[in-house]
Amino acid sequence: MRPAALSSLLSVVAGAGVVTGAEIPISLNIQAPASAISQRHVPQFVSYSFEPAFWVEFFGEPDAPRNLTFTLLNHLHARGARPMIRTGGITMDSMVYSASQTQSVVRTENGKGGIYRTTVGPAFYRQWNSFPEGTSFVSTLNFGNASVAIARDLAVASYRAQRDKIAYFELGNEPTNYPSSRWHGSTEAYVTEWKSFTSQIDKAVDGASHGRWWASSATTDVTSLHVRPSDLIPAGVNSTGEVGQYSIHSYAFATCDPTRERRATIANLLNHTDLVRYADVEIYPSARAAMDSGAQWTVGEFNSIACSGKPNVSDTFAQALWTADVELIYAVRNATSVHLHQGATLVFQSNQQLNTPGDDGSPGFSSYSLLYPVNSSKRGEARVLPVFVSQLLVTEALAGGVSIAALKTPDGAKTNEFSAYGIYADGRLVRLVVLNMKPSYQNSGAKEVGSLAVDIGKHAGATVKRMTAPSVDEKDSAKVTWAGQSFRNGVAVGDLKAETLGANEKVVVRDSEAVLITFK
Ligand SMILES: *[C@@H]1O[C@H](CO)[C@@H](O)[C@H](O)[C@H]1NC(C)=O
Ligand SMILES: *[C@@H]1O[C@H](CO)[C@@H](O)[C@H](O)[C@H]1NC(C)=O
Ligand SMILES: *[C@@H]1O[C@H](CO)[C@@H](O)[C@H](O)[C@H]1NC(C)=O
Ligand SMILES: *[C@@H]1O[C@H](CO)[C@@H](O)[C@H](O)[C@H]1NC(C)=O
Ligand SMILES: *[C@@H]1O[C@H](CO)[C@@H](O)[C@H](O)[C@H]1NC(C)=O
Ligand SMILES: *[C@@H]1O[C@H](CO)[C@@H](O)[C@H](O)[C@H]1NC(C)=O
Ligand SMILES: *[C@@H]1O[C@H](CO)[C@@H](O)[C@H](O)[C@H]1NC(C)=O
Repeated sequence: MRPAALSSLLSVVAGAGVVTGAEIPISLNIQAPASAISQRHVPQFVSYSFEPAFWVEFFGEPDAPRNLTFTLLNHLHARGARPMIRTGGITMDSMVYSASQTQSVVRTENGKGGIYRTTVGPAFYRQWNSFPEGTSFVSTLNFGNASVAIARDLAVASYRAQRDKIAYFELGNEPTNYPSSRWHGSTEAYVTEWKSFTSQIDKAVDGASHGRWWASSATTDVTSLHVRPSDLIPAGVNSTGEVGQYSIHSYAFATCDPTRERRATIANLLNHTDLVRYADVEIYPSARAAMDSGAQWTVGEFNSIACSGKPNVSDTFAQALWTADVELIYAVRNATSVHLHQGATLVFQSNQQLNTPGDDGSPGFSSYSLLYPVNSSKRGEARVLPVFVSQLLVTEALAGGVSIAALKTPDGAKTNEFSAYGIYADGRLVRLVVLNMKPSYQNSGAKEVGSLAVDIGKHAGATVKRMTAPSVDEKDSAKVTWAGQSFRNGVAVGDLKAETLGANEKVVVRDSEAVLITFK
């Protein structure tokens, strides 16, 4: 190891202007036992959930698509990803279909951004044709109004318009958050009503039932109603064979109330030990129950901080490190897809939340989204946020039907600040991902930034792509890069840069940086 003082004189990382300090040498054990290696991943792994009330802000109308959002999807498509789009979230539970409406989506609101109803017309389903080829959808149905007719009309309209693009139907969002008067905390009452609706809708759609439903869609909040997949499977939710996949929602942090808001810090978001704890304690038991019953499971909606994120946390580069790590944590645990949620503040979600809509009731876009899709009084100019680069990293890491395993934290690295994954094709190690999760802040007073010098053993001609920013709290996505390119206005700026490693060269990963290493 070079003395810190000397190395700080010598190494100034070009572009970012960051002065690097002490390098901690570590040696990565790239072996993983066969039982730790995941299933082969599909091109749908990196997927999304879009709040239907804000659909037009994100996607425009069929004859006027919103260029910025589609440009981002095209970057993923070009890398082989085929995201599955769930048109879901809280507002699907007050969604209705109107055959005579010309616009895709119309919100019925009070003057302060409270949404009573979201009405979709034929253009909403027609617009699915604007998505890149191979995009599939989860057609979401309103369970909130407790009306078979409302849910059935949505199902039938979507099926008539887009039967080939519908991968699954989903009835209701987060039943855990419904008024307790609906099922009085009874799992059985929930299952009975869910089955009654889904069987009636199946009859109306095409008379058949072929395992096309997502089931559960529960959160991990502590509520009197227990309807996570691990509760619904033993309760016989699939006794009539309608379930296609089990879906669970993952939000470990929140700004829905002041107590949780205080915990939603960059330091806590990047504590890898805690991210793994949440996944293993809250999500994995449902995943295990699904896999034990021979079923697939999916993270049907997730993001870092519930109730639309937290400015200065989820709109920084920290969100990119968080998203990359969490998506890979769920890839290791065999999620079939992970649907990163996109939307805006929902006034009726909580009366003590941090976020608000614009003063005129216009959308207060969620600061955890990939982008602010249009200019807005609340968030300023339309632009891509720092998190976007994480989607390129994960897409490239999992491209080509590979499997993934978490690697042991090497001596010298701290388990809460370090995360690494081996990626395998037919049992052969083809790539590595290393995340240095240690926060390195803009104005921390530290003169130099530390790094890990990772020994990955013998390799010849391996290449490195880097996800980086000047600091963990960087908010300007023009300064946030993946393989040398930034994406503030959607288009890639800068030359694509992959570093080629010398035969025994170590991979230097600065604090708050991640790399994808590809072997020849
Ligand atoms: C994921 O699935 C594979 C089989 O494809 C299995 O070997 C592995 O143990 C599973 N991992 C987890 C964490 O359940
Ligand atoms: C977005 O606009 C740019 C420039 O006007 C154009 O080159 C690009 O093809 C458009 N992309 C999409 C997805 O429409
Ligand atoms: C659906 O339920 C919501 C909330 O209870 C209510 O405001 C709305 O009027 C209902 N919509 C219809 C079409 O019944
Ligand atoms: C539900 O049951 C049907 C019929 O037995 C089966 O084909 C399907 O795989 C099951 N779905 C799940 C998610 O287990
Ligand atoms: C990180 O999370 C773990 C597990 O929740 C916790 O025990 C530990 O105190 C946390 N570390 C820091 C530095 O907050
Ligand atoms: C975010 O940080 C900026 C600059 O440090 C500050 O002016 C602003 O009040 C912060 N916003 C919130 C919501 O904390
Ligand atoms: C959005 O804001 C930018 C910067 O202020 C401006 O150049 C652009 O014209 C605005 N776009 C629309 C559609 O108003």
